[in-house]
Amino acid sequence: MLGITSYGAYLPRLRLRRAAIVQHMGWFAPAIMAVAQGERAMCNWDEDSLTMAVAAARDCLTGRDRSDLDALYLASTTLPFADRQNAGILAAALNLDARILTADFSAALKAGTTALITALEAIQGGERRNILVAAADARQTKTACFHEMWFGDGAAAFSLGNDNVIAAYKGSHTISCDFVDHYRGADRRFDYMWEERWVRDAGYRRIIPETVNGLLDKLGRAAKDVDHLVFPCFFKAEHRRIAKALGVAPENVIDNLHDVCGETGAAHPFLMMAAALDRARPGDMIVMAGFGQGCNALCFEITPAIAELPVRNRFEGALAARETTDNYLKFLKFRDLIQTEMGIRAEAPTQTATTVLWRKNAMILGLVGGRCEVCGTPQFPRADICVNPECGALHTQEDHPFADVPARVKTFTGDMLAVSVDPPAIYGMVQFEGGGRMTVDFTDCRLEDLRVGLPVRMVFKRKGVDPERGFSNYFWKAVPQPSTESGDEIRFDGRVAIVTGAGGGLGRAYALELARRGAQVVVNDLGGARDGAGAGSASPAEAVVAEIEAAGGAAVASFDNVATAEGGAAIVQTAVEAFGTVDIVINNAGILRDKSFVKMTPENWQAVLDVHLSGAYHVTRPAFEVMKARGYGRVVMTTSAAGLYGNFGQTNYSAAKLGLVGLMNTLKLEGARYGIRVNTIAPLAASRLTEDVMPPDLFAKMKPEFVVPLVVFLCSAECAASGQVFNAGMGYFNRAAVVTGRGVQPGDGDRPPDLEAIQAHWDQINDLAGAAEMTDAMAALMDLVAPPPAAGAEAPAAAETPDVAAVFAAMPDAFDPEAAAGVEAVFQYVISGSGGGDWQVAVRDRACKVKPGWAEQPTCTLIIAAPDFLDMITGRLDPMQAFTTGKLKIEGDVMASQLIGKLFRVQP
Ligand code: NAI
Repeated sequence: MLGITSYGAYLPRLRLRRAAIVQHMGWFAPAIMAVAQGERAMCNWDEDSLTMAVAAARDCLTGRDRSDLDALYLASTTLPFADRQNAGILAAALNLDARILTADFSAALKAGTTALITALEAIQGGERRNILVAAADARQTKTACFHEMWFGDGAAAFSLGNDNVIAAYKGSHTISCDFVDHYRGADRRFDYMWEERWVRDAGYRRIIPETVNGLLDKLGRAAKDVDHLVFPCFFKAEHRRIAKALGVAPENVIDNLHDVCGETGAAHPFLMMAAALDRARPGDMIVMAGFGQGCNALCFEITPAIAELPVRNRFEGALAARETTDNYLKFLKFRDLIQTEMGIRAEAPTQTATTVLWRKNAMILGLVGGRCEVCGTPQFPRADICVNPECGALHTQEDHPFADVPARVKTFTGDMLAVSVDPPAIYGMVQFEGGGRMTVDFTDCRLEDLRVGLPVRMVFKRKGVDPERGFSNYFWKAVPQPSTESGDEIRFDGRVAIVTGAGGGLGRAYALELARRGAQVVVNDLGGARDGAGAGSASPAEAVVAEIEAAGGAAVASFDNVATAEGGAAIVQTAVEAFGTVDIVINNAGILRDKSFVKMTPENWQAVLDVHLSGAYHVTRPAFEVMKARGYGRVVMTTSAAGLYGNFGQTNYSAAKLGLVGLMNTLKLEGARYGIRVNTIAPLAASRLTEDVMPPDLFAKMKPEFVVPLVVFLCSAECAASGQVFNAGMGYFNRAAVVTGRGVQPGDGDRPPDLEAIQAHWDQINDLAGAAEMTDAMAALMDLVAPPPAAGAEAPAAAETPDVAAVFAAMPDAFDPEAAAGVEAVFQYVISGSGGGDWQVAVRDRACKVKPGWAEQPTCTLIIAAPDFLDMITGRLDPMQAFTTGKLKIEGDVMASQLIGKLFRVQP
């Protein structure tokens, strides 16, 4: 049986958000806004079509013997050499036998599918047995044009043969014609495109259906038999229209990947095919078409062998391993579209001696070192003498390829002085498992990600380009791998977290960090538009789940709508079914529908309240039930500066957002006795909700990652705070609180004061000096029943009032062991407000231990605001009065709390 025996994919790690292009160039080309959704894959400065093809081919060859390959085809319209066989370099990088046939396919976007048909026919004809076909493209575009928005960089590869076939080849059909929708002159960097409407109507709309129908007719099959239809077309609506015209069900059409990576030229049918293979099941029929001066269509049928493929990146993994950037200037620099001053050091001669390149070809392109045949010691580079001091044998080295040997960082440095397109230049030494070390450049990482001992993977990259002679140099570099060994102290192993709206922005960042620290995460996202419109899409949540899984974490996707009770219940159900429980809920899902108040329609008002406020209720209520039963929970609400302080045009949003603070205020009380803490975050971060309301330079500095630490801390067992609101953004954190002034009581309190009395006391009513937070509504009511002295009337001398921490520090000294005979109790103090905190006081065997934090099983818990606590300690507030007025709350064994007065002799 002839067909595809394996597949692999590669996307560069960097993804440029298209919104960033619009932010920089929208003033010049506003029309590009129409296609500014999502992100496009962009090559790092040291990547090109060839390096991407190597990466995809390696993914394809995972766990597969390479020695039986007898041909290698490389398809691309952006190969680095017009005359030096690029497939030959690919073969050298893959360490393939020199006796194979290599060929470049180029000069049309359908070059990939042409190479595929040619390879399949060569095997069919018996000339070859196993062929690897890779396709890659990294097209250059002018700035601020549709091509820049549509295109992306990427690669994919297939191995073909007759054994272990995962997708059986059923046949192909081709139309070749000189339809010039675009072209690139031999001496030009950029494509020239003809009128869009004509390209759509006369090109895509006619040629693709004609070819696909031709194939189906040839095979005697119908469009309804097609389980996965793969064809590139960067006009999104046209893509849908062509599929519909062909009669293929919409759910069977593979997405054109505009949102996630952009159109990758000759590689695009390959990448889309890889996406189809990721989800295909045995028996499924796939039709794959490649467009460009005609069209090629191929048909495959999936076999059960697909389940046996060794684990590799596939398309999903390639998509997930990503770092999103808004740095458009970096994109331009990496593509050599802007000139920067590189300094005198950059003028050092860069000529490559092809004599040396030939002599050291295996070492440079294939990362082949040596291994001593006598003692087995590997070394890089290969030398005449074995490096093992106890061996030192001469001329005993055999070839030893290092490219796939796991390695770890031994040393590293970041060098701002060395010439680099992306400073600092990061280099150092890696140690290979089983022996061998080499000095390397590190790539696809940030300096702050590196640490000694981190696992690395060797990758084939561009070392540099000799601009004078147009020569690209290649060598191997090291990429740090996400470590599963964590040095984190705060962990979430065994915890289950729900993050709503986690398909992007802040929610995605929370989900990734929780998973990285061991939590099992339900990634919920409806995948709708910014204003909540549209049917929604599963892909954002699925992409984040794939990202977590690629990093070794555990997650499931949920596409339910938080705005309905059923949706909320289903989200919690997903957590319980997948992971057994719920410990953490981050209510983060959000939409915006800004309008000035008079234009605020009931529909826009309600939609925003439904998602933010009711959404938090719908998800938290069923989760709270689970948490209550288990006696543990952490809930985070998401408010906003608009809600806390107000923002023009956002009445609906502000009301919903402050409503969440109200929800928290009461939930913190109801959750306290079950170990459930509820807090609120007011984030500030660059996301699609804020992309057009912030200046671009500020936008770039506001990564969601700067909000993450506080939010994830609020989700941890280590955090005892409850009922608090925090602002977080750009790495800055502070607490926001509602405080109540000391106020004033004009008149005698028996008769209502008149308006004139209000006017006369206006300043005192407004005065916030000595203002305090209230633990709950009862405390605020008590303040009215027994008002505190007005500001200034009784300013306690600072020296007289100890601080809360000092009181607990002094507690062991105040302990009376005699009174503690036979007493065994743990008193948990929860002191809220400024200077407060949590302390546990354990009394056992006539000894007393005081320490901060939370006790596992306290005998009773005393909850009180810091000023009241100090008043009680200093004798200004009678404990019984504090209890009866609600200032002091006691949970658990209330009677045991009465022992406190006997056990401790705290002196005022
Ligand atoms: P975002 O738009 O990137 O993320 C919100 C996510 O919620 C989206 O992925 C969306 O698909 C999802 N979503 C919307 N409606 C949903 C529904 N009914 N069910 C499930 N998922 C739904 O925005 P960003 O900035 O990450 O916002 C996260 C939260 O932070 C929101 O609640 C927002 O109001 C809040 N916030 C953000 C600020 C910022 O500076 N980014 C400022 C203040 C608050």
